This record gives sequence, C-alpha cells and structure tokens, in this order.
Amino acid sequence: MAHDENKAFLRRMPIFTGIGESQLEMLAAGSVRRSFPRGRSIVAEGETSQSFYLLLSGRAKVQRSDSEGKEVILAILGPGEFFGEMSLIDDAPRSASVITIEPCDFIAVNKESFKAMLASSTDMCLAIMRGIVRRLREADKKIETLALMDVYGRVARVLLDFSETVGGERVVKGKLPRQEIAKMIGASREMVSRVMKGLEVDGFIVPVSEGRLLLRDKINLYLN
Ligand code: CMP
Repeated sequence: MAHDENKAFLRRMPIFTGIGESQLEMLAAGSVRRSFPRGRSIVAEGETSQSFYLLLSGRAKVQRSDSEGKEVILAILGPGEFFGEMSLIDDAPRSASVITIEPCDFIAVNKESFKAMLASSTDMCLAIMRGIVRRLREADKKIETLALMDVYGRVARVLLDFSETVGGERVVKGKLPRQEIAKMIGASREMVSRVMKGLEVDGFIVPVSEGRLLLRDKINLYLN
C-alpha cells in the first residue's frame, strides 16, 4: 500500500517525467515517506549519508556554516526538487545542511536503491543530471550576482526570485525574514534592513500587508 502510494508520488515528480514503470518500481521499493515540522535539520553538513530525498511539499534551505557559526544560504528548495544526491554519488561527507523552513513532506530513498537505480537506467541518470545541471545554472547566476552587483542589486535579485505574479503584479507572498536574505547575499541583517528601507522610500517596493510585498517594475533596473 505504502509502496504503491510512494510510486504514485514518484510518478508525479517532474524530474521523473518519461521514466518507465520498472525504474519507478525499483525506486519505490527503497523509499519511505517522511514528514517534518519547520526548523528540522534533514541532512547535516559533514555527516556521512544514507539517503536521497525528494521534496513533495513545503520548502527547505540549503545552508553551510563556518567554524564561527556564520551561515550562508546556498539555495531554497521547493516541491518537486531533490537533495542529498551529492554525497551518495561521490561518497564524500554531506556538502551542506538542509533545514526545513516550512512543514515538509519528503520521500527518502535509501542509498542502495538510489545507487541501483542509477546503475540500471540511463534515463534515471539523465533525470538526476538534469537536476544537477539546473542547480549549477542557479549557482552560476548567484556567483554572478555576488561578484558583480552591489547590495541593492543583490536584494532586488532575491526579492524577484521569491516573487510570483498575482493579478499582473509581482508580489512576494511568503515571509522572507531580513536575516535570511542577509544569509543569501553575504550581507549583514542591518545592511539588508537599510537597503529595504531605501527601496521602500524610493517606491521600488511597497509593503501591502503582513509579510506581503509588492515589487514595482522599476526594481528590474537594479539587475542591469
Ligand atoms: P549532499 O552533499 O549529499 O547533502 C547536502 C545537499 O545539499 C547536497 O547533497 C545537495 O543535494 C544539496 N546542495 C548542495 N549545494 C547546493 C546548491 N548550491 N544548490 C542546491 N542544493 C545544493
């Protein structure tokens, strides 16, 4: 029963579009469903790895920290994305921590099933490779932002990345704490607060309600 349910979830994952039943069957055989509340560490940087994860619902942050506890957020993952593949592929320790920022549902696939799946199917390998390539493109964009943009540009980039179109307008709907923005762009929380205030005073962003932010079109000027 759980096996069939897991297979149905796997079939709905965009990365597995076009993958055959027998491959999904193999993956489902080594899978369990897991639910975690907000703020839970799912994988920890530096640990050895046992599982590969697919995110069914909710969001999680990928984070690294230095010996003084300073943190940088590498990415925010959402439904349909996967993580935990790197250390299973190269047998090195976990490259980062993945921590839920909302209640999340996952499918966890054990190491043996993940490796067997890659060994048995070129289609599966390509599906995982496409995911890794997309992530590298995101990371390239981030390096460009950090190297070439000032803090206003970096904040504008994050706000646009987190926005969605609602009734023809760009809106940041979910809570996006300044501290978290700071960790994404390598700036202090105080600096992010100053920049956000500046953007508001100059009419680039408009707080419309609790945690909801309207982005004016001219905010794109910061990206050029
Ligand atoms: P792993 O190293 O096993 O554990 C941490 C996971 O975080 C890693 O596999 C990737 O799945 C994920 N990860 C690491 N770096 C990034 C990144 N830059 N963007 C998105 N996900 C990442």
